[in-house]
Amino acid sequence: MAQLTLPANSKVGVGKTFPAPAGAKDVRAFKIYRWNPEDDQNPRLDTYQIDLADCGPMVLDALIKIKNEIDPTLTFRRSCREGICGSCSMNIDGTNTLACLKGIDEVQGDVKIYPLPHMPVVKDLVPDLTQPYAQYASIEPWLQTESLPPPDKERLQSVEERNKVDGLWECILCFCCSTSCPSYWWNGDRYLGPAILLQAYRWIADSRDEHTGERLDALEDPFRLYRCHTIMNCTKTCPKGLNPAKAIAEIKKLMIERR
Ligand code: SF4
Ligand code: SF4
Ligand code: FES
Repeated sequence: MAQLTLPANSKVGVGKTFPAPAGAKDVRAFKIYRWNPEDDQNPRLDTYQIDLADCGPMVLDALIKIKNEIDPTLTFRRSCREGICGSCSMNIDGTNTLACLKGIDEVQGDVKIYPLPHMPVVKDLVPDLTQPYAQYASIEPWLQTESLPPPDKERLQSVEERNKVDGLWECILCFCCSTSCPSYWWNGDRYLGPAILLQAYRWIADSRDEHTGERLDALEDPFRLYRCHTIMNCTKTCPKGLNPAKAIAEIKKLMIERR
């Protein structure tokens, strides 16, 4: 069945307010994007007034508190709570980031929370990631070789070779970068975007992989790679401190070197 989704930039109305409990001392308002495909209504911003004296320090703690204690219909993704799984990515206070790594005290005033921008929305804070995952599959993200492995040991790398995948393997596919990239907003159906290009470079940079030529051939395209205009939003927003713009520049350099 086709999934019901809504563009995240649809008109957003004012929703319900859930007041703080009586006696709350340290109240903060969380204004959260809500949309339910079954409601047949425009999206709205609901306001939840939370007593921070009775809440964990991270934005994800507040979301979990709201879901558990105030409004079980609020929908968002999360798993690890440690910045490892990449599932709690969303737009908080105007920046794409991970709710589990974003301290409430890093936000001044109301905490405004939207789904990742320019993606279709499945419900509330859950974006539809079908497209970036299909793009991820398209770069064949696994080790590809022609030679047989040594009979008695693994395929080894020198320390220097191994160092080349540092800054790449740490990517958790949260898509904060791709959904902050204007080129991906406008051409996401054909441009792979920074997250997937960083992943593509992760295999190109791996000394054990023997399909570098084929990988570069697959990226040699005016849209898949060359829609990156070095705007750098991707690198600024990555909650893991990675540099997708640099990975893209390295791919472009290899393209020139092999001509
Ligand atoms: S550097 Fe490239 S990938 Fe990163 S935000 Fe800019 S256009 Fe997008
Ligand atoms: S490069 Fe950073 S922002 Fe982009 S998907 Fe990977 S971890 Fe997320
Ligand atoms: S819950 Fe896993 S990265 Fe935030």
